[in-house]
Amino acid sequence: MCDIRQDIAGKTKYDFQNPDALRVLTETLLKKDFQLDVQIPAGKLVPTLPNRLNYLLWLEDVVGALQLPDDQTVTGLDVGTGACAVYALLGSRRGWHMIGTERDPDSLEAARRNVQKNGLDNQVKVLEADGTLLTGPLRAAGPVHFTLCNPPFFDSDPADPEAPAPRRPPPPAASTGVLHEVSCPGGERAFVTQMIKESAALADRCRVFTTMLGHKSSVRPMKKAAYEAGAKEAIATELCQGWTKRWAIGWTFEEGLNLRENVKPTKQTKKRAPVQCVVPRDLDGIQYNVTEVKQHVVEWLQELKLEVEAGNCNKYYASYKVTAWEDTWTHRRRRLREERRAAAAAAGSTSDLAPSPASADLALSPQRAADTSAASDTSDLSCRTDDTDPAAGKRSRCDSGEPSAGAGAPPSAKRPCLESALGAVTLNERRRAPALVFTLFVQKRGPDILLMLQLFKGELGSEGVNGVLLFLKRKLESRLAVHTTTGGSGGGEGGAGTGLGGGESSEGQTVQDAAAQAAAAPVKTVSVSEGVSRAFNRLRTHMKQRLNLSPADSAGKTQQSASGRSESHVASGQPESEVGASKQDPAAAGEGST
Ligand SMILES: C[S@@+](CC[C@H](N)C(=O)[O-])C[C@H]1O[C@@H](n2cnc3c(N)ncnc32)[C@H](O)[C@@H]1O
Repeated sequence: MCDIRQDIAGKTKYDFQNPDALRVLTETLLKKDFQLDVQIPAGKLVPTLPNRLNYLLWLEDVVGALQLPDDQTVTGLDVGTGACAVYALLGSRRGWHMIGTERDPDSLEAARRNVQKNGLDNQVKVLEADGTLLTGPLRAAGPVHFTLCNPPFFDSDPADPEAPAPRRPPPPAASTGVLHEVSCPGGERAFVTQMIKESAALADRCRVFTTMLGHKSSVRPMKKAAYEAGAKEAIATELCQGWTKRWAIGWTFEEGLNLRENVKPTKQTKKRAPVQCVVPRDLDGIQYNVTEVKQHVVEWLQELKLEVEAGNCNKYYASYKVTAWEDTWTHRRRRLREERRAAAAAAGSTSDLAPSPASADLALSPQRAADTSAASDTSDLSCRTDDTDPAAGKRSRCDSGEPSAGAGAPPSAKRPCLESALGAVTLNERRRAPALVFTLFVQKRGPDILLMLQLFKGELGSEGVNGVLLFLKRKLESRLAVHTTTGGSGGGEGGAGTGLGGGESSEGQTVQDAAAQAAAAPVKTVSVSEGVSRAFNRLRTHMKQRLNLSPADSAGKTQQSASGRSESHVASGQPESEVGASKQDPAAAGEGST
């Protein structure tokens, strides 16, 4: 039952925020689509399958570029196979023979159990890591055609500049795994650099080395490191699946493989689908129709100092072009507090000045502050919008008559009034291009009203639109006439009906805590099997569309990779029949997996 929950609009959802639900889903999908009976110990990293399959599909192309003879068994090494041994097991379903390494004793044991349980001991070996990443295993068990790795992405040093940026909205799925599975000293760059260094002395033990990367910023430096280590070619690709983007690089010390020609990088070319949410009913003071909803949404966007330009509009539909010159929605409450403090300090040190609107706001009664603080920000402290006409974003003005930061004037001319009053140099003065441009749709669909945000451009990208959507969702939650009895306000923006004002409740509970509680608690009594099968169907449809892989495609790919040059660079020693059998296995051909 804990796997299924209802969102604020009453839609039933699989609970991707629950690590146990993720574990059960992955185990079930492996069983259903790949006939793999796997147990992932609680607390260990739960592999998300779409992302793993994506990497494997790219590896199929890499193997194809090797132009092996049909009867050659493909052999690969998975560095850091994890408790699930997911790549090794899925690789075996492609007909490959896999070696996995693991340094964590519990994961090592679990991985070996999973291999054994599936009767794959002849096809998959799991070795205990000896402190090296490639040298030990390739000397002991190689040679192989390729190596693969999903390294620990993050630096175990908390000062990691590559650690997930706090400005990101929370991931749609829970984070799983213990710290040492996902982090190491120096993060992925140190890990992969070590791998590249070792690979230089192992050119005779592996034809193509590859690894996944969790940060786009690591791709170039790692390719450069491969060339510096003597690689003849280094290639990269983007692995994009739903919300998550990863990258993979490959390098070879072999002349003439022509990886660049033979392994085309995949890149998401399709326009991203808009992010959306259903507007809940029973909102305090907002009638459930497009006209009312859009008006409030536009007001909320203007609180963020975003430019809102009205497009098409009728009773059932409204569209707006929304422009942000900087990220004003992330850590809004924290910024608000800091700015209030700064304003208070400034007011204190210039006591001869008349109180500013900001300091006046500071003097609000706690109740008044609670009513206004979450819904206000710097502009609320010192600026006021002229009106709330949806199309009037451009007409927003500060009291002083100076254009507000979100008010349509060129960025160089814009600054929040409070900052300008304090003589601060704003980000806007430095930025020439808008940080984010997106289209907002408020649309009636069936009985529901949807908010949809479609990214157009800007450096804040999809994280930016997700952040704005999160802000709008919290605004909506705060206006719910009837709150769940979880003690939270579902984000607490405005704190309507809850007594919550700014970022913290009277008990000191953070808004994030309250949101998490509100998201986690409401449970609808839907059977697990019903919910899981709905989730399967959605996932499978999604994967089919994304990977565009049919059994025929996959089989074709395998055949293609098996044709051509007959270079027996790698010792196989495996019976052909096994390989053939695996290739005909519908699961091996990707059936159902996508
Ligand atoms: C991000 S997890 C990936 C697990 C699995 N391959 C997957 O994709 O789900 C990284 C794994 O590498 C293992 N690891 C870290 N350092 C290692 C090393 N030096 N040798 C072998 N494994 C290592 C960790 O214990 C962890 O299981």
